[in-house]
Amino acid sequence: PLPEEGPGAQGCACLSTEDHSLGWVRSFRPQKQNLFLHVNDGSSLKSLQVIAPAGMNDPLLGFGCAVEVKGILKKSPHSKQPVELEAEQIRVIGECNPVDFPFKIKERHSLEYIRQFLHLRCRTNAFSSLLRIRSEATAAVHSYFKNNGFLLIHTPTITSNDCEGAGELFQVEPPGTTFANEGSFFSVPVYLTVSGQLHLEVMSGAFPRVYTFGPTFRAENSQSRRHLAEFFMVEAEISFTESIEDLTKVMEELFRSVTESVLAHCEEDVDLFHKYVAPGHRVSPEGHSITYTEAIDILKRSSETFTFPTDWGCDLMTEHEKFLVKHCGNIPVFVTDYPYDLKPFYARDNQDHPKHTAAAVDLLVPGVGELCGGSLREERLDLLRSRLGEYLDLRRFGSVPHGGFGLGFERYLQCILGVDNIKDVIPFPRFSHSCLL
Ligand code: 4AD
Ligand code: MG
Repeated sequence: PLPEEGPGAQGCACLSTEDHSLGWVRSFRPQKQNLFLHVNDGSSLKSLQVIAPAGMNDPLLGFGCAVEVKGILKKSPHSKQPVELEAEQIRVIGECNPVDFPFKIKERHSLEYIRQFLHLRCRTNAFSSLLRIRSEATAAVHSYFKNNGFLLIHTPTITSNDCEGAGELFQVEPPGTTFANEGSFFSVPVYLTVSGQLHLEVMSGAFPRVYTFGPTFRAENSQSRRHLAEFFMVEAEISFTESIEDLTKVMEELFRSVTESVLAHCEEDVDLFHKYVAPGHRVSPEGHSITYTEAIDILKRSSETFTFPTDWGCDLMTEHEKFLVKHCGNIPVFVTDYPYDLKPFYARDNQDHPKHTAAAVDLLVPGVGELCGGSLREERLDLLRSRLGEYLDLRRFGSVPHGGFGLGFERYLQCILGVDNIKDVIPFPRFSHSCLL
């Protein structure tokens, strides 16, 4: 359960000036002599306390209304808040019928409950906190890359490639065209991107450090708590590298840097999650590294019963990933050197290993499982020959060893906040059988 009432005025909201406040009523307490309001404008969890003579109580005024308050900002006699606004005039800009409004004053609503009202959940404390954290984390991702010499590439949303080769594509055509006919818009089948990696790889032929951060699309027919049909991915590609450690170092630094920024700038918002959503939740950016083969050994030796097989060559499922994270002490775990056949065509063949593995790495984190997937890329033309056309050409003209990774941004937010369902960390979730708004 989450607190829905204003937590108490402690500051002045950003739309408020000395004597003027615009916002939404978060708490409403008419008393004999005075009327007390908390007005919030989304800039923080803090609301401005407004005091008005009881006579100013407009019948339209109440919880959820949009208001304009004019008055005099005064030092507050209460220690909890530095200032309060003594109202001279209150104007209801937008009424709010409390009977129909799905959020009730003083009631605590679950994330699941507020998710039913996608168009209104930004008006709750929890979701407004989430949106501020999401915005801060977005800015921190860009700062990290800018400060570390990465060039931002706007990779396309519409593409003719299936980067992951997993067949989870959404095909795109204007209405009225059939996907198969020759009059199709692009003359070739095109899809919403599942990853910007191949476009980053193109750019990494001229810029040693590139990244992209945008929406990606996967037709996953899954109702899981960690899959969406549209999610945001942070992807980086690094040239002149021949080691997985170069990739894991960037993943770890990115995680640490974004998390530090969020904790520093959104302390109160993060506290709300750690207090009400995932009590006792802590994030450790310190990672541990094991190979896939060691991971399989750990799973095999454990007394846990798993639904899915744990033989060498089998993919690690969510249950396995969560177990491995717990086993390593609830810290982020890098799993490297997966079986070659489990990874997409671009992953580099570890030819010198006794078992057929690829130089690929997944980062597993507490509560979520897989947060990042990455690999060194196969730059050797002869080994790629059996694969794709233009991809091969990238290897013919000044090719260098390189590698990269993708981080699921929503899973990152789930991880740092302890949110169980991915639908609660994105403003407008898209998943099978659901595309509201
Ligand atoms: O492991 P994935 O599929 O890797 C790639 O797409 C690479 N091409 C990235 C690269 O190397 N540039 O996806 C990367 C991450 C996953 O680890 C996961 O966190 C997230 O993206 N992800 C999803 N998040 C939400 N919903 C989905 N359906 C997701 N699929 C992947
Ligand atoms: Mg993956």
